[in-house]
Amino acid sequence: MASRLSSFALLAMAASPVFGFCGSRTHLHTRAEGGGIEVGKFGYFGETGPFKWATLDAANSACAMGKNQSPISMVDGQFNVIGASEVKLEIPDAPQGIEFENLGTTIEGVMEGSGAKINVGGTEFEMKQFHFHQPSEHLDNGTSMPMEMHMVFQSAEKEVSVIGVYIDIDTGANSAALQARHQAMANKRFAAGMKIMPSTLTNSTAAASTMLETLFSSIEEIKTPGTVVKSKPLVMSELVDTIKTGNFQAYSGSLTTPPCTEGVSWMVATQKLKISTASYEKVRNVVKFNSRFAQNTLGSTNMLSMGAETVASVSKPAA
Ligand SMILES: *[C@@H]1O[C@H](CO)[C@@H](O)[C@H](O)[C@H]1NC(C)=O
Ligand SMILES: *[C@@H]1O[C@H](CO)[C@@H](O)[C@H](O)[C@H]1NC(C)=O
Ligand SMILES: [Zn+2]
Repeated sequence: MASRLSSFALLAMAASPVFGFCGSRTHLHTRAEGGGIEVGKFGYFGETGPFKWATLDAANSACAMGKNQSPISMVDGQFNVIGASEVKLEIPDAPQGIEFENLGTTIEGVMEGSGAKINVGGTEFEMKQFHFHQPSEHLDNGTSMPMEMHMVFQSAEKEVSVIGVYIDIDTGANSAALQARHQAMANKRFAAGMKIMPSTLTNSTAAASTMLETLFSSIEEIKTPGTVVKSKPLVMSELVDTIKTGNFQAYSGSLTTPPCTEGVSWMVATQKLKISTASYEKVRNVVKFNSRFAQNTLGSTNMLSMGAETVASVSKPAA
């Protein structure tokens, strides 16, 4: 794998300190003294939407000026491939559940102190939280996915790395129940001495993620921004195992929320998770819409600067 060394070089290069997180109004920054949850002040349309983020706070200028902004369309040339096993993702199970919060701008699982971590090229990053976007922020080779999970990690040096995982909808074709029915039917045919097509006995791609289904079973308890619930016990190994069977598409980008700080090491998983249609609809009703539009090719003019030039050029009086 020729790209391996350069992937680590890229991650090392990306390792400049940033002072916020993707979904940056996280509990780390905004949990008020006394334990309350402060709800995010930015939004996704109108006066607080992505076109205005840079005006909400002087610290947000990268949102309008930065040339390595996230999310992007994950197309060839924009990323290096790293084997997921090289990132040494570890997430312990959570038999007591985790805190699951509605921050107004996203829904977030708190992981600080859980022992969850990654280790990239010898640098350890501790998992702080994971949260969700609906629809996906990154585009999978140009295609938007129903949701995206962001797992946010931070090193002792305050370098930030985020693992992005697309979430698709399980239409039921691969569901466990259907699989079990197929298996039972196959067993009957076996018993009757009938011939069986090999495909009848092969498990196809993953069904709905049990971890996500379990977490989202509490979503209606945090309908209101600023609320928190203790989730049911979560088995994280399924999630980790699924991600580890694929690769990561790595690039150096930014937080996708204000202050849009650059120098974030992104790793977008090639393995997707799935949720049931029913869970997706419940989550969508709470999260509504929380995706920043896809940004320009890495290194190119910021989309907002580009937009300003466009407006200036069309509003010039005709010569
Ligand atoms: C990405 O999309 C392009 C254009 O549709 C296609 O030619 C290419 O094969 C796709 N790449 C992958 C890895 O699917
Ligand atoms: C299919 O998956 C089920 C559940 O994980 C498992 O019990 C079964 O052995 C699998 N069947 C095959 C043919 O791999
Ligand atoms: Zn995010």
